[in-house]
Amino acid sequence: MPTKIPRTLQWVGDLPGTLRMIDQTKLPVEFLEIDLTTVEQVWEAIKMLRVRGAPAIGVSAAYGTIVGLQGRAYSTRADFDARLAEVTSYLASSRPTAVNLFWALDRMRAVAAAETQTDPDTMLARLLGEARAIDVEDQAMCRAMGQHGIALMPEQGGVLTHCNAGGLATAGDGTALSVLFAAHAAGRKIHVFADETRPLLQGARLTAWELQQRGVPVTVICDSMAAVAMRDGKVSAVITGADRIASNGDAANKIGTYSIAVLAQAHGIPFYVAAPSSTFDMSLGSGAEIPIEERDREEIANGMGRQTVPDGVDVWNPAFDVTPARLIRAIITERGVIDPVNLATVREMIS
Ligand code: MRU
Repeated sequence: MPTKIPRTLQWVGDLPGTLRMIDQTKLPVEFLEIDLTTVEQVWEAIKMLRVRGAPAIGVSAAYGTIVGLQGRAYSTRADFDARLAEVTSYLASSRPTAVNLFWALDRMRAVAAAETQTDPDTMLARLLGEARAIDVEDQAMCRAMGQHGIALMPEQGGVLTHCNAGGLATAGDGTALSVLFAAHAAGRKIHVFADETRPLLQGARLTAWELQQRGVPVTVICDSMAAVAMRDGKVSAVITGADRIASNGDAANKIGTYSIAVLAQAHGIPFYVAAPSSTFDMSLGSGAEIPIEERDREEIANGMGRQTVPDGVDVWNPAFDVTPARLIRAIITERGVIDPVNLATVREMIS
């Protein structure tokens, strides 16, 4: 294991360069960095959750666009544009829910669309500049969310989180975990309860690993223990990330988040979401319009190398659910805190 906290993903070299990332499917047992040199490898890494978490998927797609464009000879700008369209629509097909993926690809396409007379080599360099900007901006957004969120965290007490919304899910320190890191650094005596997060255990494998690395006290619990932890007074606040937030504040996040929000309300515990402006989809009126990814039955029936469901039995495996805005006490963004959460306040902060 590394002694210093490594970058989740980074561009190595210039042009041509390589997209290097931590293979998160191996954690916490093995720390492995992989170098991706084809757009098919980038697509597979996103699809198989080697890189995951909404902001990190967006940054990967931006660099993945460069991976798909570089190393080819373009006789005309039209050839270059055709390849750009092919690469971006291919990457867009990797996962449907996190809007950061489409947001980043739109940004890349917009840069090219704004300069139709620029030659392919110069355009490629400009696009690498845009991907780097998306990466650096994400790091800054993480820092800002951390600072905005400190005041919402208890001076002392338990904070429950679900899935992984940490550095591994972003180019920086994370969204929900950035708030926890910042609160810990500011002297708040918080103890994190990390839901293990079935079926792929992002909470147990990744969130616990990150918090341990940063010296933040953490206890892993089964997803089904959250109600008891709340009833017993162990949880003062809940904070999660989001994959896509509709204009009315409904927020899609890892499956199980909705249950936690309902439980938090039943116990009078504030439920917070931390997400950058790149996670808002203002084209959607409500969470009912958010596309929810359905994943392979094997993740539930044969997870972690052991069969746990009889052959032939049906399995339902949606990767995300939507928490209605009415259950969300506040949304922490890099621009400030949205409180209360409704169409008007979301518009005011994000539009
Ligand atoms: O399927 P995953 O692991 O990509 O799901 C990730 C989440 O649900 C995160 O909570 C979300 O992307 C926010 S990450 C800052």
